[in-house]
Amino acid sequence: MNQFISFPENFVWGAATSSHQIEGAWNEDGKGESIWDRFNHTPGKIWDGSTGDIACDHYHRWREDLDRMQKLGLKAYRFSISWPRVLPKGRGKVNQAGLDFYNRLVDGLLEREITPFVTLYHWDLPQALQDKGGWPERATAHAFVEYADVVSRALGDRVKHWITHNEPWVAAFMGHLLGVHAPGLQDFTLAMRASHHILLSHGWAVEVLRRNSANAQVGITLSLQDVTPASPSHADYQAARHLDAYLNRLFLDPLYGRGYPADMVAYFQQEHGGSMNFVQAGDLEAIAAHTDFLGVNNYTRQIARDARAAENLPPTITTENSEFTEMGWEVCPEGLYRLLNRLHFDYQPRCIYITENGAAFPDQLSEDGRVHDEARLRFIRDYLRAAHRAIQCGVPLAGYFVWSLMDNFEWAYGYTKRFGIIYVDFENQQRIFKDSALWFREVIANNGF
Ligand code: FCB
Repeated sequence: MNQFISFPENFVWGAATSSHQIEGAWNEDGKGESIWDRFNHTPGKIWDGSTGDIACDHYHRWREDLDRMQKLGLKAYRFSISWPRVLPKGRGKVNQAGLDFYNRLVDGLLEREITPFVTLYHWDLPQALQDKGGWPERATAHAFVEYADVVSRALGDRVKHWITHNEPWVAAFMGHLLGVHAPGLQDFTLAMRASHHILLSHGWAVEVLRRNSANAQVGITLSLQDVTPASPSHADYQAARHLDAYLNRLFLDPLYGRGYPADMVAYFQQEHGGSMNFVQAGDLEAIAAHTDFLGVNNYTRQIARDARAAENLPPTITTENSEFTEMGWEVCPEGLYRLLNRLHFDYQPRCIYITENGAAFPDQLSEDGRVHDEARLRFIRDYLRAAHRAIQCGVPLAGYFVWSLMDNFEWAYGYTKRFGIIYVDFENQQRIFKDSALWFREVIANNGF
């Protein structure tokens, strides 16, 4: 018989979403345009030509969605605030109707004994700020602090868990270098500038959130991945070190007081003719502001191989026997285990939450009216096992949020990728608990499996 895996007392079991991916109501009740509204209204940017205009219509259906969370027994819910819903032009005049939506949402959660974890920035920058240059401009960091102030003044009496940013790497590099996310730019220097100003705005906001929200826990969420060299060749080790710098250390090092990694800075200067002249005196101290937790989003791992290297050895790490999700991401729970241990060893965050983990698989609505998403269930179970092993190694992991509560607008993939534990029929907005949701409910109820 399999052993029962029991999680620590008060382990936080949650589910996550983000504003642009579920809310819809993109121009209702005074909401301003976001860069994602602009991006998905631009032909050719989204795979299936869809938009976030309606998404899960959560803006209107939030009550029934909260009831579903309660049915699942969720202890916590991680959602994000739409900046342009609160400040339509990014700065200045507050849209009270927008704030009221989040006020009701927070109250509704607390009534159901679900702890709100609020992310301030999950990529939907007000277009008005983009028009002034967006994250590559330092002024946007100042605007973020004003926004953080407005939101935390309004919600800070009830919200006690704050995440400043979601995945700065994705916002900066997918949006400003790869161009596949809003605002769709392709320039390494812009990406580095965006990255710096996002981190800076985080550091500045920490203090504001603490001031407006007594006894709050404040942190940031990063997309982090275990990186392994494909072979023991020197070239593959170098490739792995570089990838680790680019995906992980570029954010972790400054956040934990070590400044920017020298290898990444050298790469930026030498390969891209870049200059770090956007870093001003005091910035690194600000970015290293003490936080209460680190949010970790993890879906897969990376194997690094230097294809150009002369001394290439045959890969010893292969994915021949691996399973891949519909995103093409390798399923590798061991990567989460290694990542968590590494974070604990290298950076000693006080506390870690897995703020996103989950998988897209091509779900089918069965004749019996159910969604038998066995692959997702196994994915979550195996990643939870890995997380549990990390806890046994001393990693201070305090919670796990599945991505996502429900199928939603998966950015450039539109509605073609389903990550939810709740199935959404986008024709009629019907929701159905997938098998993974029913299983997750049991896990929460038993604090293990
Ligand atoms: C993460 C995002 C989240 C979702 C998942 C699949 O990078 O934070 O919004 O798109 O990936």
